[in-house]
Amino acid sequence: MDSTTTKSWRSGGVIERYREFLPVSAAIPVISLGEGGTPLIHCPRLSKRVGRGCEVFVKNEGANPTGSFKDRGMTVAVSNAIERGMKALICASTGNTSASAAAYAARAGISCVVILPAGKIATGKLLQAFAYGAKIVAIDGNFDDALRIVRELGESGDFTVVNSINPDRIAGQRTAAFEIVDEMSEAPDFHLLPVGNAGNITAYWAGYREFREHERSTKLPTMIGFQAVGAAPIFYDRIIHKPETIASAIRIGNPASWKQARAAIMESRGAIDVVSDDEILATQSWLAAHEGIFVEPASAASIAGLFKCCDSGDAAYSFNNIPEASRIVCTVTGHGLKDPDVVFKRMREFQPVAPTSTDVRRAIAL
Ligand code: F0G
Repeated sequence: MDSTTTKSWRSGGVIERYREFLPVSAAIPVISLGEGGTPLIHCPRLSKRVGRGCEVFVKNEGANPTGSFKDRGMTVAVSNAIERGMKALICASTGNTSASAAAYAARAGISCVVILPAGKIATGKLLQAFAYGAKIVAIDGNFDDALRIVRELGESGDFTVVNSINPDRIAGQRTAAFEIVDEMSEAPDFHLLPVGNAGNITAYWAGYREFREHERSTKLPTMIGFQAVGAAPIFYDRIIHKPETIASAIRIGNPASWKQARAAIMESRGAIDVVSDDEILATQSWLAAHEGIFVEPASAASIAGLFKCCDSGDAAYSFNNIPEASRIVCTVTGHGLKDPDVVFKRMREFQPVAPTSTDVRRAIAL
């Protein structure tokens, strides 16, 4: 392993920053792509929408090296796998975990197998896994089937499983909560995020609790998770055998961290709610056009959820009576360019015009 594997000009990623809180040895070979340190963006238009002097911040996890929050846990899982001498990773994925695993495996110089539901992975994510050199296996089944197979193959000891059933993944993802507390010098009052396999809500809650215990904050946020209507096992409290949603990243019917997610919601006196595909897509457009943040559909679920808390009579958690000047953080989990197809369909055909300023001015006016 050459020295570039362990050193980066960009401040070293989440292991360097939060080493003392992570399950890593002093001598661990750090496999990092400079993940973490993502922007916490104050959003004036979202804040106005909530009203009552509340402030809304978006934690933009699309700014991670492979364009999603998965990199935070992947650096911890892969560094530990390398320390143990493992030579191959395996994961099931709706797309982002596979992109991240493939990138960190490439960085570490080991192989990576990804098991994906055929035809259900957003174009950009599949391209990433391919470009990073992963061995891609598509199955005639959904994510829950893929995860079952990965669990079985993981038992052989030939592979390190890097799904969030690997505790290193959750441990690394806690760093997003650490960063928020460090930046705000306090925990927010509310934290909203999309929920799929339920690892991320589990990780945020663990991270907030840990920093509260270390007195880096004086309070804990209320956690509010959002699932897509057609893939909402936690909301409906039953396994969904054929989950369906345009937000393919969270198309999951039997989440691995179901119990932990329930605990996070109960302990924080929060809620789990659903948003429709139409709400997700409308919010994805709104966020890009009004706050300049382009996210993939699953990520827009947290903002669609914020709107529901503000506007809808049947919201699981209403923001009508929250304290004035509450601080609300919404995590957006993945970059919009990962899943271009739906947006692409909305674009009209561009008819080229003659290359003169007169023609271009006329075209602008149309
Ligand atoms: N948002 C995005 C963009 C995701 O990719 C995922 C999960 C989630 C939200 C939900 O997070 O599973 O921790 O509740 N993607 C996984 C994957 C399942 O395979 O990439 P969660």
